[in-house]
Amino acid sequence: MSDTQRVWFITGANRGIGLELTKQLLESPFNTIIAASRNPSQATALRALSDSAKGRVHLITLDISNKASVQASVKETESILKDRGLDYLINNAGINPAGFDNAFSMDLDNVQAAFATNVIGPAHVAQAYLPLVEKSAAKTIVNVSSTLGSLGTDFGPHFASYSISKAALNMLTVKQAYDRPDLTVVTVCPGHLKTDMGGESAPLEVSVGVSGVLKVIHGLTHEDSGKFINHAGERVPW
Ligand SMILES: NC(=O)c1ccc[n+]([C@@H]2O[C@H](COP(=O)([O-])OP(=O)(O)OC[C@H]3O[C@@H](n4cnc5c(N)ncnc54)[C@H](OP(=O)(O)O)[C@@H]3O)[C@@H](O)[C@H]2O)c1
Repeated sequence: MSDTQRVWFITGANRGIGLELTKQLLESPFNTIIAASRNPSQATALRALSDSAKGRVHLITLDISNKASVQASVKETESILKDRGLDYLINNAGINPAGFDNAFSMDLDNVQAAFATNVIGPAHVAQAYLPLVEKSAAKTIVNVSSTLGSLGTDFGPHFASYSISKAALNMLTVKQAYDRPDLTVVTVCPGHLKTDMGGESAPLEVSVGVSGVLKVIHGLTHEDSGKFINHAGERVPW
């Protein structure tokens, strides 16, 4: 890998936004992508991308809610990177286990599941991969959140467990940015996109939201650290 190459690490890269991020990043010959998923052997679309990428997409196994899996994935990534660092860590994997649940009737097991994947998973991945991010040129962590986690935006009572977990992910981002002023850490909303999670009736194609997110990431400066930004490049109210 040459010095002009940038290395990206994407969780949940086998479908939806993670897959599209991998696809669009591959359009630049300067990008190398470490594409993490729970079951790379079954990730048919991702494997097809990797097969045509001439060694620029590396598939690794990672379940972000499993501590042993996170640790094992670091070793696997280190063996791919050798002495290189990780420029962009994209904490994309996420779940909405309950759909439209409301605060007084939500199943608390769903709240726990949402926190395990949407908050604790990204927190653990960031801790485990910090030495690799520190070694890189860009030193950037992007947490993929949602405007549903914005306290300043009125979405009514629904999506309670998911929204609460994304608000917590936003606070994680702020704490990470304060804790390590030498890094750039942001939280982004990709927009409501047509994916398995977003549903077929979502207003935006996944390609539109993802190209917006990549434009935002490419335009980041160090002063943006700690911000909540959407795919259109606008600040989202906390
Ligand atoms: N789509 C939208 O409209 C929208 C809007 C705002 C924010 N977001 C956020 O964008 C991110 C991606 O969403 P999406 O629409 O692409 O969702 P999706 O189509 O449902 O894909 C979710 C991805 O996360 C992975 N994942 C879930 N739990 C995981 C775990 N424990 N370990 C590793 N990977 C795991 C899934 O892997 P498996 O295939 O193994 O399940 C899958 O690759 C999420 O954080 C979501 O909250 C989405």
